[in-house]
Amino acid sequence: MKKIILTGDRPTGSLHIGHYVGSLKSRVELQNSGEYEQFVMIADLQALTDNAENPAKIRENLMEVMLDYLAVGLEPDKTHFFIQSQVPALFELPMYYANLVTMARLERNPTVKSEIKERERILPVGFITYPISQAADITAFSATHVPVGSDQLPMIEQTREIVESFNRIYGEILTLPEAVIPKSANARRLVGIDGNAKMSKSLGNCIYLKDTPELIKSKIMKMYTDPNHIKVEDPGQVEGNVVFTYLDIFAKEEHFKKYLPKYQNLEELKAHYQRGGLGDITIKNFLNEVMQELLKPMRERREYFEQRKPEVLEMLKKGSQLAKERSDKLVLEVRKAMGLNYFEDELFIKSYINNV
Ligand code: TRP
Repeated sequence: MKKIILTGDRPTGSLHIGHYVGSLKSRVELQNSGEYEQFVMIADLQALTDNAENPAKIRENLMEVMLDYLAVGLEPDKTHFFIQSQVPALFELPMYYANLVTMARLERNPTVKSEIKERERILPVGFITYPISQAADITAFSATHVPVGSDQLPMIEQTREIVESFNRIYGEILTLPEAVIPKSANARRLVGIDGNAKMSKSLGNCIYLKDTPELIKSKIMKMYTDPNHIKVEDPGQVEGNVVFTYLDIFAKEEHFKKYLPKYQNLEELKAHYQRGGLGDITIKNFLNEVMQELLKPMRERREYFEQRKPEVLEMLKKGSQLAKERSDKLVLEVRKAMGLNYFEDELFIKSYINNV
């Protein structure tokens, strides 16, 4: 079976390094493996489910997210970029799928559940049902693989249930997708620079892919470490210490050779910190070097495409057209399977005419 990827992001803000380690990085790897056809979608409709009164925010962030994609190394020759609202299948299929999902099941979806808990039932219907819309996004392209952060796992689970119900009732039309998540637990959900369990725009604890070198450095200098590690001689904790959590994910041996040759690897650095005698400034400076090295090429690619805005628009326009054509084909099959293809169905036409 052909391997197809569908994934995407809401255009409600710029993407940050949590997005990068959680999913963008693997999208680039999957793209470059040459083994998949990859669709990457800017989910403007999903963003509207809880921003109905603020469409300007979505317009502002649409091209920002696209630039983030290009900055991390996704390429239009290898990945189809498109905008959700430009693809009619994505709002036709949810109408059919909605009948296969009970209210009780929707309310068990962790994202929906926590919002209901907070806002009771004062939630837009569109928001409560967005897991159904997400199932449409995935199945419209017969996606086999969905690279996402681990917070999205319940969405994939719900999609799989919809696929199973649909195929049981109407025949084997939809493809059962699987999630692709990072191997390391730290990367699956990157902590914020303040040590909060999640890097998120609303908490203001993010390092953005587009941050300037100065901003990156000042954020790293403010990072949460070990509050009991006051003097350099004090023994320090590496667990829960954000600098070490990030080093675990980002630091490679070659970084030590280049920037901190006194240590061969992270184990040695951790051991010294735990013994005492290693200051926070040293580890923060090292992390800063590592992060700057990672983010510099992204900044350069962003600048390159910022000089070529008409080209970037064209990529999205072309991609959206292709996404429309591809998903329209699947919709035809779905309509046929559900018996909604009246005017193309000779049997339906004949039996109607002969019976009158
Ligand atoms: N829910 C995803 C997010 O919040 C965005 C998204 C919409 C998505 N449709 C999708 C992700 C389909 C993967 C597959 O980032």
